[in-house]
Amino acid sequence: MYIEKLNVLNFKNYSSEEISLSPEINLVTGLNGSGKTNLLDAIHCLSLGKSAFSTQEQNLILTHQPFLSVLGFFHKSGKSYEVRYDYQKGSKKVILLDGKAYDRLSDHIGRFPVVMINPDDQKIIREGSEERRKFFDQLFCQIDHHYLTQLMHYVHLLKQRNALLKEWKESSGKKDYVLLDSYDAPLLRLNKELYDKRQKYTAHFMTYFLLQYKKLTEDKEQMKIVYQSDVAKEDFAGLFHKNRERDQILERTTLGIHKDDFIFTIGEQQAVKHFGSQGQQKSFVIALKLAQLEMMREFSKTEPILLLDDIFDKLDDERIHHLVHNIAGTTSGQIFITDARPERSMEIIRLLKREIRIFHVSKGEIVVSDK
Ligand SMILES: Nc1ncnc2c1ncn2[C@@H]1O[C@H](COP(=O)(O)OP(=O)(O)OP(=O)(O)O)[C@@H](O)[C@H]1O
Ligand SMILES: [Mg+2]
Repeated sequence: MYIEKLNVLNFKNYSSEEISLSPEINLVTGLNGSGKTNLLDAIHCLSLGKSAFSTQEQNLILTHQPFLSVLGFFHKSGKSYEVRYDYQKGSKKVILLDGKAYDRLSDHIGRFPVVMINPDDQKIIREGSEERRKFFDQLFCQIDHHYLTQLMHYVHLLKQRNALLKEWKESSGKKDYVLLDSYDAPLLRLNKELYDKRQKYTAHFMTYFLLQYKKLTEDKEQMKIVYQSDVAKEDFAGLFHKNRERDQILERTTLGIHKDDFIFTIGEQQAVKHFGSQGQQKSFVIALKLAQLEMMREFSKTEPILLLDDIFDKLDDERIHHLVHNIAGTTSGQIFITDARPERSMEIIRLLKREIRIFHVSKGEIVVSDK
């Protein structure tokens, strides 16, 4: 799968730009703050219906403008598709496939798979469990539409249950346990179903991940990802029920898959975030992302687009060489690369002998460059 043409209108620092892309490698160059990452984010919006960086649509609109529109012409399995992402201030965003708006945005997820790697990804290792759940959920939602609807249902029920617990705490009226039961029964069922899927998919993911990590480093260290969940505890349903009193005091649901974690370890069960060197952590994250790409390819039966944002930063030539070689070995699909200093990466990328198009960005204007 690849994008043939991209139009951005009032998107971040772009007012109106149209570019024709290489189905193989697209290199985006330009000074800091020129708009390289924004261009990749526009593609992210087309694929996932949301920015990789901002949860608030209004931040994506060019300053002083009332709306934005991103349009992409995709090629997938011999067919062409037009995907549009529109947002107008004060309205809901709309995603259109071949001119027709989706009834549910979730129906779009997974159709045009994209994987982005950017420096911010380090937070998957360094920050709390929420980041890791987000990473794995985004993958599992893209490969399994039913997982996405189950998860949305779970989040909805959890919100309702938490609101009820809060209401009980604030009012001294009669507690409606029948209503609480009506949330708990489906929540317990979804906990079990989502747990089973997370366990199954994490095990599958591990095989891709270990191979990627091995290819990226000379490391002999044993890396591991351990899925950890309350649901695995003996008699989870009993525990969940017993926990009601505590939940009432804390005004939120304290047990369930929304508390899951994925523990990353190195060697003898030591946390990657504490014991991994900077280089090991960087390789770890890239291996996570390339494993994500391989798993998405397997399930979607299409080659995902790879967005590489600033990944050569702080790497020496030898490492860039190794990384580029690995990425080329992992995907034959379309790749976008941003680099503020392309003189070093360019020569290495040229060795791949793929069709390269170079775009030079300056203050939100894009020029096709011939060198
Ligand atoms: N809604 C918006 N309206 C106008 N400009 C915006 C908007 N959102 C972001 N920008 C501008 O976009 C620029 C950042 O663009 P981007 O992150 O793509 O830069 P970059 O080329 O990737 O830079 P770096 O090399 O530092 O990563 C900033 O100058 C920022 O002010
Ligand atoms: Mg950038």
